[in-house]
Amino acid sequence: MGNVAVIGAQWGDEGKGKVVDWLASRADIVVRFQGGHNAGHTLVVGNETYKLSLLPSGLVRGKLGIIGNGVVIDPEALLAEIERVRAQGLRVDPETLRIAENAVLILPVHSALDRAREDARGDRRIGTTGRGIGPAYEDKVARRAIRICDLAEPETIADKLDELLLHHNTLLRGLGAATFSKQELYDRLLAIAPKILPFAEPVWERLDEARRAGKRILFEGAQAVMLDVDHGTYPFVTSSNTVAATAASGSGTGPSSIGTVLGIAKAYTTRVGAGPFPTELHDDIGKQLGERGHEFGTVTGRRRRCGWFNAAMVRQAVKVGGIHGLALTKLDVLDGFPELHICTGYMIDGKAFRHLPAGQAAQAAAQPVYEVMEGWQGSCRGARSWAALPAQAIKYVRRIEELVEAPVTLVSTSPERDDTILVRDPFEG
Ligand code: GDP
Ligand code: IMO
Ligand code: MG
Repeated sequence: MGNVAVIGAQWGDEGKGKVVDWLASRADIVVRFQGGHNAGHTLVVGNETYKLSLLPSGLVRGKLGIIGNGVVIDPEALLAEIERVRAQGLRVDPETLRIAENAVLILPVHSALDRAREDARGDRRIGTTGRGIGPAYEDKVARRAIRICDLAEPETIADKLDELLLHHNTLLRGLGAATFSKQELYDRLLAIAPKILPFAEPVWERLDEARRAGKRILFEGAQAVMLDVDHGTYPFVTSSNTVAATAASGSGTGPSSIGTVLGIAKAYTTRVGAGPFPTELHDDIGKQLGERGHEFGTVTGRRRRCGWFNAAMVRQAVKVGGIHGLALTKLDVLDGFPELHICTGYMIDGKAFRHLPAGQAAQAAAQPVYEVMEGWQGSCRGARSWAALPAQAIKYVRRIEELVEAPVTLVSTSPERDDTILVRDPFEG
């Protein structure tokens, strides 16, 4: 019995939270391995809605949650999130949540720099979540980051703050933003240390033991392949690798532990921030998709940009992300549209492309090539079996399978946990 990794196959918000929550009933441990509180994963269970940013979605099922070393952690945001979900009745304590001792911290300087840089970019802004994700990952590779384990070493924190503030205050000053005092940051870190340290451990050891004991591990991705810092629509991306391979390096386990990779894709496309979006719709159909799909960012509250399903893009995500099977979500949102368009490739300056080239100008110029399909009467909403779907909806799913070159192994038909059609259990390989 293998493990499963869940990753986004578009630009995020595909419904990873719902799918992870659903699959978590079959898992023993749920692990976050990259990203930070830029993620917003929504789980609807009966009358309760959980919005998780840093906490692994498996906690809602009472499963052990692990935050791996690849995640960047804003400790104050984490503590606030823990309080919020505890108030909803979830149990979060050092028995249900473990955090990698070598994970990097997001500090207030990082979010300040993130926002100051976005302001300075003006029209060229990326549309980041402003939560300091990019600057924190920059500090990690620059070898000046403060990590969870440093919270137990006040002297290490003091030393690192000197180097960190030399760098960040210089930048903040240059951008005309307020600078930070070492004492303030030091005091804030020491104040939260006793609240965070009980969760910290070398999670790689626990994962190694779990693997040897035959436990099932579910790796929960954040963001998506088209936001991957290498493979996405650079520079309009996040600052981590979001592909399935990161599940290994971002949690301290080998690539063979990842198991089956499930890519999540909406039956149409959305994007929150700026950047190229070849199938974007600026018309009434785009507006209808947004309204019916409730396409407002969980983290930013911003209206998500909406457009047709882009099979060329998801096919690219399948290949670079290592996706074995696809979970197609929000099929119900397409109910009643007379016609549906699917992008199969692009035209750029009169030349045909099967996949998006890497160049920024080329990506911005990409025009979608569409195939048009008849929509369906009747409703997919709440369907829990293949037989409950309109025949034309099944045809749409089948056509997507052909075009993206991966099987659809799961279909989601409403936000509710159990409104899900399982075609093939990813834990069975
Ligand atoms: P994530 O970031 O990938 O976890 O996705 P988000 O939670 O940010 O956004 C997905 C939104 O769609 C959430 O509000 C979900 O409750 C909702 N959702 C998930 N699956 C379905 C579905 O099959 N149908 C509908 N209508 N909504 C869904
Ligand atoms: P989940 O896990 C959608 C986008 C931002 C911006 C870009 C960079 O809920 O799918 P960042 O703050 O990461 O530096 O912003 O990435 N972005 C997301 N879009 N869903 C997310 O997460 C996202 N996390 C980041 O909007 O365009
Ligand atoms: Mg989201």
